[in-house]
Amino acid sequence: MSSILLKNISTLVQVDSIDHTEKASLLPIKGEAMSSLPQLQDAWLLLREDKIADYGAMDTCPVTADQVIDATGRMVFPSWCDSHTHLVFAGSRETEFVDRIRGLSYEEIAKRGGGILNSAQRLRDTSEELLLEQAYGRLQEVMRYGTGAIEIKSGYGLSVAAEIKMLKVIQRLKKMTGLTIKATFLGAHAIPLAYKQNRAAYIKLIIEEMLPQIGEEGLADYIDVFCEKGFYTVAETEKIMEAGRAYGLKPKIHTNQFNCMGGIEAAVKYDAVSVDHLEVLNDAEIACLQSSKTIATLLPSAPFFINDHYPPARKMIEAGLPIALATDFNPGSTPSGRMSFVVSLACIKMRMLPEEAITAATLNGAFAMELGHSHGSIAKGKQANVFMTKKIPSIAYLPYAFGTDLIDTVIINGKIIDKV
Ligand code: NIG
Ligand code: FE
Repeated sequence: MSSILLKNISTLVQVDSIDHTEKASLLPIKGEAMSSLPQLQDAWLLLREDKIADYGAMDTCPVTADQVIDATGRMVFPSWCDSHTHLVFAGSRETEFVDRIRGLSYEEIAKRGGGILNSAQRLRDTSEELLLEQAYGRLQEVMRYGTGAIEIKSGYGLSVAAEIKMLKVIQRLKKMTGLTIKATFLGAHAIPLAYKQNRAAYIKLIIEEMLPQIGEEGLADYIDVFCEKGFYTVAETEKIMEAGRAYGLKPKIHTNQFNCMGGIEAAVKYDAVSVDHLEVLNDAEIACLQSSKTIATLLPSAPFFINDHYPPARKMIEAGLPIALATDFNPGSTPSGRMSFVVSLACIKMRMLPEEAITAATLNGAFAMELGHSHGSIAKGKQANVFMTKKIPSIAYLPYAFGTDLIDTVIINGKIIDKV
């Protein structure tokens, strides 16, 4: 049995006294409680095989382990849980980035056939092997940035063959890395050009051809729809969620990025695990989320990159909602999978306290992937996924020094990941 002991940890962050070997049923951290962020000073942490064996204060430190790491002056965090990404994609879209600098908006670019359709064209022309190679590189990069569990969506295929190709790549990434990955089917990301005059036929294809194959081969955990003007209507979103339900796929829905149009109410009606984006959000929608179990997932690096406004995080916290933070890593609105930067943006642009942002990026992110029992905090029996920082003076220093890589050592499934 291999074990790693981290000792003299200046602060062990997000400690959780529940014994997760018991598989306790738990809830995400809501509203004001997000700022409590339980910590232990001068601590040790013992990892055995791929699980957290125990932790405690230094005066109770076990004598030895197979490997001992002296963490003097450093903090140890649970790995980031990135609950919303589109990390499988082909090529890049920096020409659209330049178009936006010249004055076009994200929506105008999409209307011209750029945006998601641009990525879909590239993806269809890319082999599964090449797609896998590119996505594997990105996944290794985000693991070194401290991500220890991730959700990845399809949605750049937009044909039966290409959507299945994307989902197969996600399954292969799981096998190659051993990382905990949740797969989401996002066939309804855009209407493909060929179906522009007959959107009902494309939705039929999703429901009658894509979903049965995905269900049969167990290729996805969740279903997503881009519920937004110019993309999918609320009625279409409901129809697709209904169809997904027959295959046991719970919804995680893109909505309220640009418009309030009823996407949140629809997602809540279908017991969505999360609603994601929420750059625009009205009081009725906040009230709807208050009486639901759906998690509000905010993706601040998307409005940062496309120069849009940010979700009203403070208002949501005051309303007692649980918030998760994720990267939205994708080639169009967020070509970055760096969770530390998302945490900085949450603090700087949405006025979340460092403690609130860290809770949202760890434990609540885990819940947004239904992994609250196994990931996102330092607890006995949870997955041995942690990162150790460089020497830092306080927790707030992490989001404060937004451009510095402060992560020193990454451990995933009880193994140290090389930082090349
Ligand atoms: O979450 N908004 C919809 N989907 C992605 C962006 C997709 C793209 O531009 O390629 C998002 O921001
Ligand atoms: Fe997204």
